[in-house]
Amino acid sequence: MRKKIVAGNWKMNLLQHEANELVNKLVSQEVSSEVIRIVFPPYLYISELLNSTSNLAIGAQNFYPKDFGAYTGEVSISQLKDLGVKYVLVGHSERRMYFNESNTFLKEKVDSALANDIHVIFCCGEPLEIRDQNKHELFVINQLEESLFHLSAEQLKNVTIAYEPIWAIGTGRTASSQQAEEMHACIRKSIIETYNQEVGDSISILYGGSCNPSNAKELFACPNVDGGLIGGASLKAEDFYAISTSF
Ligand code: 13P
Repeated sequence: MRKKIVAGNWKMNLLQHEANELVNKLVSQEVSSEVIRIVFPPYLYISELLNSTSNLAIGAQNFYPKDFGAYTGEVSISQLKDLGVKYVLVGHSERRMYFNESNTFLKEKVDSALANDIHVIFCCGEPLEIRDQNKHELFVINQLEESLFHLSAEQLKNVTIAYEPIWAIGTGRTASSQQAEEMHACIRKSIIETYNQEVGDSISILYGGSCNPSNAKELFACPNVDGGLIGGASLKAEDFYAISTSF
């Protein structure tokens, strides 16, 4: 059965005491054990937060796909693994856009994480002009083909996909549940065609892009939506709780 996941991408937000307070609140919330909750804080806070959580996983927003070496300012997957990190984000549109991360580089990151037994949440999604040209499905499938579909079926099972239409990120504009379901179904179909039915049925596909307490229920009710990757609303304990209990 596919896993239900609610993940909070904090991006470059919160000071340390705010991060501690937020995690303390999240840890005290009662959420079904069927729902995996993960938060992705800035690097600086990871090691402290890892010690305080049992019902909440702590992941990393980024890493550099080399084990060690002269890469000033970077953090490697081996260093994250050593801390106890089990999840990483790869392919977020902000990394693609502001840090020029290409599909080829993202493929390297995927390989580096999986080689270290770290679960990848792989983000994909189209900009508005691509949707306006009705090329969004081709665009997203191409992202998957160039960064993910070289993996074996066994490896792909350690990947969760997050569909994040760029025009819905931080804009308050959400994909309708129909738009989300259509894209999620298309992603699942391409996994089934590339691998097989069993693999397609086992991969969780999350929706991200202005997901909040008022739209989460409708989005999560879609047959191919297995949860959410939440930005802004993950910074408020009550909102993250409301979303985590929207299945
Ligand atoms: P918002 O929920 O703030 O739109 O951000 C979505 C996102 O980018 C999660 O990774």
